[in-house]
Amino acid sequence: MADAGLSLVRIGEFAWARLEPEPGRFEFDWLDEAIGILAEEGLEIVLGTPTAAPPVWLSERHPEIQAVRADGRTAPFGHRRHYCPNQPNFHQATERIVEALAEHYGQDARIVAWQIDNELGGRCFCEACVDAFHEWLRERYGSLDNLNESWGTAFWSQTYTAWEQIPLPEGAPVPLPDGFLPYSPNPGLALDYRRFAAESFARYEGLQIRVLRDRCSPEQRITHNLMSLGNREIDHRALAEDLDFVSWSNYPLLAGSWWRSGMSADALRTLKEDRPVWVLEQQVGPLGWELLRTPRRGQLRLLTYQAIAHGAEAVVYFRWRTARYGTEQHWHGLLDYDGRIGRRFREVQELAGELERLRGPLTGGGPAADAALLYDADSRFALQVQPTNPALGYEETQGRHYEALRRLGLGVDVVWPGADLARYRLVVAPSLYVVDPALAHALADYVDRGGWLVLAPRSGIKDRSNAVPERPLPAWLDELAGLTVTDYASVSEGETVRFAGDDLAGEFAGWYEELELEGAEALAHYAEGDFAGTPAVAEHRVGQGLVTYLAGAGSEASLRAIYRELCPRRGLAVAELPEGLEIVRIEGTPNGPLLFLLNHAPEERTLTVDGAWLELIAETSGSGDISLPPHGVALVSTAAVQVPVRS
Ligand code: GAL
Repeated sequence: MADAGLSLVRIGEFAWARLEPEPGRFEFDWLDEAIGILAEEGLEIVLGTPTAAPPVWLSERHPEIQAVRADGRTAPFGHRRHYCPNQPNFHQATERIVEALAEHYGQDARIVAWQIDNELGGRCFCEACVDAFHEWLRERYGSLDNLNESWGTAFWSQTYTAWEQIPLPEGAPVPLPDGFLPYSPNPGLALDYRRFAAESFARYEGLQIRVLRDRCSPEQRITHNLMSLGNREIDHRALAEDLDFVSWSNYPLLAGSWWRSGMSADALRTLKEDRPVWVLEQQVGPLGWELLRTPRRGQLRLLTYQAIAHGAEAVVYFRWRTARYGTEQHWHGLLDYDGRIGRRFREVQELAGELERLRGPLTGGGPAADAALLYDADSRFALQVQPTNPALGYEETQGRHYEALRRLGLGVDVVWPGADLARYRLVVAPSLYVVDPALAHALADYVDRGGWLVLAPRSGIKDRSNAVPERPLPAWLDELAGLTVTDYASVSEGETVRFAGDDLAGEFAGWYEELELEGAEALAHYAEGDFAGTPAVAEHRVGQGLVTYLAGAGSEASLRAIYRELCPRRGLAVAELPEGLEIVRIEGTPNGPLLFLLNHAPEERTLTVDGAWLELIAETSGSGDISLPPHGVALVSTAAVQVPVRS
């Protein structure tokens, strides 16, 4: 590992059965030996608490700790993450193993950080969860009258007269042929259960954090490897709250498109702004359980640079040596099964050398963002309950806006409600399905002081209890947007609705809305459909700022066309980047801004920079064209950094 240029290693995150072979009997000798060997080679250690893989003796003694799946079946032993986060006996067992580890290693300077559990998340439907959910609801609503009112339980005669009567929503039913679900819970109940399930894991994480904080040196920092933004069940913000710093797992090949990993990184980075972010699992080789996906040559290096460009302070590869046994036999590490030094080892070794040289030039630097995308866990959960239309899916909508902005070369922070918006010239809140007056107020304040806010269809549809407010749409945002939504329509699959204005033209798919302007001005009108001739894109000047309302769901290409036209009007320079080419602007370095150029395409890409440039990895210089080989990377210093590129 040291020869490969690695300096940090994470271990122990699933080793419960080896650490505590029988209840209360601990064996640390093997781990002491491993830590000794690693530390002697100068490696720093992140130690995992092993609770993601409870041993079989615990399931035998306490079968109730096994999670119950949505279909009512108990998760069998033989995989991992088979526990319920709300089971008192599981909490006790957790405290015992974490305490023992903390007592043994809590003052050991070789351990620089703790990783809690491993990728917390899941949904459980057991009796303990039912009880805990009732407690959670009691705290949230105070009284049953309040709950009945908030959820609107008069509908379908669901009025509750005792907390114990409240069920958990059934999960994941198979749709009927006409698309309806055979049973569909009250939307308030369904949203609250999702929040509760996500918070249950945050509370379980908190229990472990407390045990560690009580016993460990403050030098040992506490983190957790969160899943990427693609995970639909967790509340990233809740999981991040009590950590010293955030880390996460990055598998770009699973993400599907180059921008998805960047989007996750841009979201996880903002969870704790003043702290570093570590990638505790970064794809290093071919991966898969049943099926294998193989990266192309050069992607190992490219994807590591992408993680660094998006702000990772440390990148830890998953995994060191490919396992000969177990479910992850096909998940390739740096070494193959035989443990011999091979291609991936050499690539990492070379990369480590490169990164060492870049340490100086990149010191203090981080990705810069003029734009922010607002990400709201409640809106995401509520749209899972009632997706409304495939074109309005939460992740899909957010992804289309993010990709459109990134393909125009803009830096984007993915931010969470409560973030300080004032520093961004553009805030895009494209799926603000759930809104409350406080959030609407924060957005109005941002605009009033000169910000540019972009809203999109189905904004302000629900309140925090997933009920529809008795207000014109978009609720609480209508005055700010200077309009109301007077009608809306779905668009059949394969069809689109065109719109056009003086400088804007494009098409919406899946969904579009009819607007009545009350202060806003139309930038484009529908050219067809039921709302032909009425505004399709509108803008409203408020205070020093501006709100743009897009009345339909656009493809990434349509959104890109809109942003390409509108951004320069607000002083945001855009660049039309060649397909697959990513740019990340780094600011805060000793010698001024730098540009990471990351070629995700399997072909060469050429860019034209305005003026002279210096490339810091290969140490070359030139002016005008910069060519990148397939999956190539460049780190460029250029005076023309603001409007860097033309295709
Ligand atoms: C991660 C997980 C690892 C390993 C890896 C590859 O999500 O944390 O333990 O399973 O995926 O499957």
